[in-house]
Amino acid sequence: MTRLHSLHAAGALGASLLLLACGGTSSQAEEPAAPASNDEAPAHVHPHHGHQAGHHHSFADVERFAAIFDDPARDAWQRPADVAAMLELSPGLTVADIGAGTGYFLPHLSPAVGDEGAVLALDVEPNMVEHMRARAAEAGLTNVTARVVDPADPGLAPGSVDRVLIVDTWHHIEDRPAYAARLAEALRPGGFVLVVDFTMDAPEGPPPAMRLRPEQVAEELGAALEVEQLTEELPRQYVIRARRR
Ligand SMILES: C[S@@+](CC[C@H](N)C(=O)[O-])C[C@H]1O[C@@H](n2cnc3c(N)ncnc32)[C@H](O)[C@@H]1O
Repeated sequence: MTRLHSLHAAGALGASLLLLACGGTSSQAEEPAAPASNDEAPAHVHPHHGHQAGHHHSFADVERFAAIFDDPARDAWQRPADVAAMLELSPGLTVADIGAGTGYFLPHLSPAVGDEGAVLALDVEPNMVEHMRARAAEAGLTNVTARVVDPADPGLAPGSVDRVLIVDTWHHIEDRPAYAARLAEALRPGGFVLVVDFTMDAPEGPPPAMRLRPEQVAEELGAALEVEQLTEELPRQYVIRARRR
């Protein structure tokens, strides 16, 4: 069952988000020690991310990351169709997938917006973008445009997109409040951003030191956007929706 929680009062954010997204159980100090590097992570830790000892590193090795991001086993907890449904897409809308990686979500986004709509598959890594172009062409996803973006700027024209999806990427962005302001400007009336990222205790994801608690993400988005709702449908991640004011 979907549970949606309105978060009107900024003061309600911290406690509610923490409880809902993290299950209200363990503190960070109680978490098991993180591997020093994802490259050193045991197989069961599932190195989902490009991080090394707390630093962001390159996602240039597409083949390596495709084996992880597009692992069919991911579907069980990532639930890409459910994520696409949370975007409330309809034919003709424009959706930007920022940090789109190998294009894992494209097969779900593209048909939902149809021929009159558009999917912008954006990533800082040129090899990922090349990979997504080939993937979209091969799958006949003609409404997908993949392009390289600046790490600090998705390059979206003001009032040009209806939805923005950011999965497992928000923590890679450096000046996140400034980035949120750019997103706010890029949204059309009625548009919203969906940020999906790993909970502190998820078995996948970046080392704990790099993870962001949902209330922090909500605060970063909240400077420029109306943080509305959180769903707790995904088993290992929180979802924050932030709407254009
Ligand atoms: C963990 S992957 C997630 C990929 C995809 N969203 C998914 O869920 O399969 C993070 C991606 O974000 C990209 N990235 C990192 N920083 C970025 C930024 N500032 N702007 C856009 N993309 C970024 C990386 O190159 C990488 O492809």
